Amino acid sequence: MTILNVNGQDHDVQASPDTPLLYVLRDELGLNAAKYGCGLGQCGACTVMLGGDAVFSCVTPVMLAAGRRVTTLEGLGSAAEPGPLQQAFIDEQAAQCGYCIPGMMMRAQALLERDPAPTDQAIRAELEPHLCRCGTHMRILRAVRRAADAMQTQMAFELGAEQ
Ligand code: FES
Ligand code: FES
Repeated sequence: MTILNVNGQDHDVQASPDTPLLYVLRDELGLNAAKYGCGLGQCGACTVMLGGDAVFSCVTPVMLAAGRRVTTLEGLGSAAEPGPLQQAFIDEQAAQCGYCIPGMMMRAQALLERDPAPTDQAIRAELEPHLCRCGTHMRILRAVRRAADAMQTQMAFELGAEQ
């Protein structure tokens, strides 16, 4: 049995320790945002955060996630209350079929936590491992930039309120 902390909640996981994290999230915990694409670490659809890092959950055995913080798209907000990154993707209409988007967003979230004001070049380089067949690439870039601006405005507002 593995204790897995996902989106701030502990779960007793029954799957064997070498089961891919993606299968546990989807099949055991019912968290379906992360998608199965290639299953080989080549498309990015299954990306989640482990601690502050974006990882391909299709090639990450669940035992490697034990004792670390797992964050999936469900942890960033909900349809009723989207987080800043989710809101930015909605505002920019950055999804077509949407299959690639949860993975893209989790890698973008990891980037923004590490670098709150990334350059366009940094955003492009970071999202390079992700495949999108629909071709909403420019909208996705605009959405990440918009989220960075929104998060910075929010931070400045909170700092101002504290002073
Ligand atoms: S499904 Fe994991 S990288 Fe493609
Ligand atoms: S929006 Fe369809 S694969 Fe990216």
